[in-house]
Amino acid sequence: MKTRYASATARARINLALVKYWGKRDPALNLPEVGSLSVTLSSLGTTTRVRFDAELDRDRFVLDGRETTGPALQRVVSWMDLVRDLAGIRHRALIESHNDIPTSSGLATSASGFAALAVAATRAAGLTLPTEGLVGLARRGSGSAPRSLFGGFVEVVAGRATDGSDYRVQRIASEDHLDIAVVIAVTEGRPKAVGSREGMERTRVTSPYYAAWLAQCARDLPEARQAILERDFSTLGHVVETQAFRMHAAALASDPPLLYWDDCTIRVLETIQRLRGEGVECYPTMDAGPHVFTLCRTSDALRVSAALRATPGVHSVLVEKPGKGVELLS
Ligand code: PMV
Repeated sequence: MKTRYASATARARINLALVKYWGKRDPALNLPEVGSLSVTLSSLGTTTRVRFDAELDRDRFVLDGRETTGPALQRVVSWMDLVRDLAGIRHRALIESHNDIPTSSGLATSASGFAALAVAATRAAGLTLPTEGLVGLARRGSGSAPRSLFGGFVEVVAGRATDGSDYRVQRIASEDHLDIAVVIAVTEGRPKAVGSREGMERTRVTSPYYAAWLAQCARDLPEARQAILERDFSTLGHVVETQAFRMHAAALASDPPLLYWDDCTIRVLETIQRLRGEGVECYPTMDAGPHVFTLCRTSDALRVSAALRATPGVHSVLVEKPGKGVELLS
């Protein structure tokens, strides 16, 4: 079914992986080796407007007010070709995106970015896709992006089919299901040295712990899912913390090694240990960057954020809650 839209704007929030995605079984289709589980956050994210324009001779991607070039632009242009093929149009587009947080800092703006882009670009192209269509498109942009289409707690079912036909993404619980906060200690805003795409491929090819990591994910995912469904915060926190360290252990064992942390990451981890010694139940996790995401009960969020803010080297502290899925704004 086709509807005409000159332009469209969508907003999506970042999501935090509780059981991580780190390894592809098909890099071209961006299919994960195993499933993952995340929580979509409440406020940090990306707002994107797409306008197809017969006058343009090339796609333009303006990110946070800056015209992009090189690989950042090329990644979006190749992705826009998928939408053009589906819609049967040739027009180029102006894509204007705004991130609430520094791009490529390890705070996973590619997830909210491609989720917002999938909704805005398909609408602007006059397409009305079912959810699976949006999921497939968002995945081609970034493996973690389909999770940001949904609110609350979200699971990726990796599937086995070579064409990805049994890959699925589903919401397993709503945003108000579990009374948790995610306190983010931002250590620095500089771009990642090795992006997640290259990092996970290097881990797959060179890390002797890659197979063990995958086997562990297959055990962690059902445990985390059950803990969420049973509102068992302690079990969930335990899985989340061990998961993160195991992902980084597999990455560290790559050749050349992948170290995503900085000195401040370690200091934040020490602060969390101290808080736990004082009886505050909180659990850290890190993605492909130095920032630390701490899961705690909402009632402890103020105490945790104060302690993280007082940790030397912490640039800023953000407090998030589970949030909503993607929204079409206009
Ligand atoms: O979606 P990508 O290619 O940016 O990879 C995300 C990788 C991690 O953030 C480290 C883990 C995850 O599941 O989000």
